[in-house]
Amino acid sequence: MTTDTDETQPRHFLDVDDLSEEELFAVLDKAEEYKRAVENGEDHADLSGQTLGMLFQKASTRTRVSFETGMTQLGGHAIFLGEDDIQLGRGEPLKDTSRALSRYVDAVMARVFKHENVEVLAEYSSVPIVNGLTDDAHPCQTLADLQTIREHEDGLEDVSAAWIGDGNNVAQSFALGCALTGVDLTIATPEGYEVDEAVLERARDLGGDPTTTTDPIEAATDADVIYTDVWISMGQEDERDVRMNDFEGFQVSADLLEHAPGASVMHCLPAHRGEEITDDVVEGEQSIVFDQAENRLHAQKALLGWLLE
Ligand code: CP
Ligand code: NVA
Repeated sequence: MTTDTDETQPRHFLDVDDLSEEELFAVLDKAEEYKRAVENGEDHADLSGQTLGMLFQKASTRTRVSFETGMTQLGGHAIFLGEDDIQLGRGEPLKDTSRALSRYVDAVMARVFKHENVEVLAEYSSVPIVNGLTDDAHPCQTLADLQTIREHEDGLEDVSAAWIGDGNNVAQSFALGCALTGVDLTIATPEGYEVDEAVLERARDLGGDPTTTTDPIEAATDADVIYTDVWISMGQEDERDVRMNDFEGFQVSADLLEHAPGASVMHCLPAHRGEEITDDVVEGEQSIVFDQAENRLHAQKALLGWLLE
């Protein structure tokens, strides 16, 4: 725990490019190390006595459980703070919530709607803020995704990935992660659902060169990795009818995989089978979605270690 009068400012993780290339690879290396430690039953209580606050404005299975379990394995503790269980839900300003939490906990992971809200948390926090998903970004997911690709492709060099579907929060952070690590990325979205131009520009500044297209087959052909996510993200439920229509042709199905017979199929989960991906693909031999889910645990522990040790 630090106080808001400390001179040293904490590092925050609001999106993937808050890490340098070197730092990102160090986190991925540490994630591998933690994975081995769990598999071998080795003690690794690196955050003994430390506490993570976990603020949620949206639902979660993987993020909540992987952060909480991760803190337990690291010898620390995590506190679930649902918006409606704390005074935030009754109108306490976020900046006050942030300053109060900073006086108790060692880091805060937050899942919120507006990306500006994690920026406000960071501005007023004297402890690290970790983005556990906003409408614009999901950088913790990207850490696990890169760890998973690295495992399945035996490294990140000469890997070609195809994003098929909505240019959403998961896609945007993934684009930055690919740029930082040298993964060649093609993004296929329907018109009107592209990754933000500002994010593509950031990816280019990091040395990436993402290709964009409206043709899912063009993106998928001979890719090493095919990645998709829901067409209707949390908070977009009212757009369901329009989106279901607009995303026609973007389903990751056995037909699409004929163009990429060697590809690993990724999905951050939860999946809406029959919409962006078919049941047989989720359950099929090319699917690595549960390795991705597992790696949330290892990658986030590595991130927390980097932020807190
Ligand atoms: N992928 C992911 O963030 O899952 P949850 O919404 O279950 O946390
Ligand atoms: N794009 C999805 C990801 C869920 C983990 C959403 O924001 O709902």
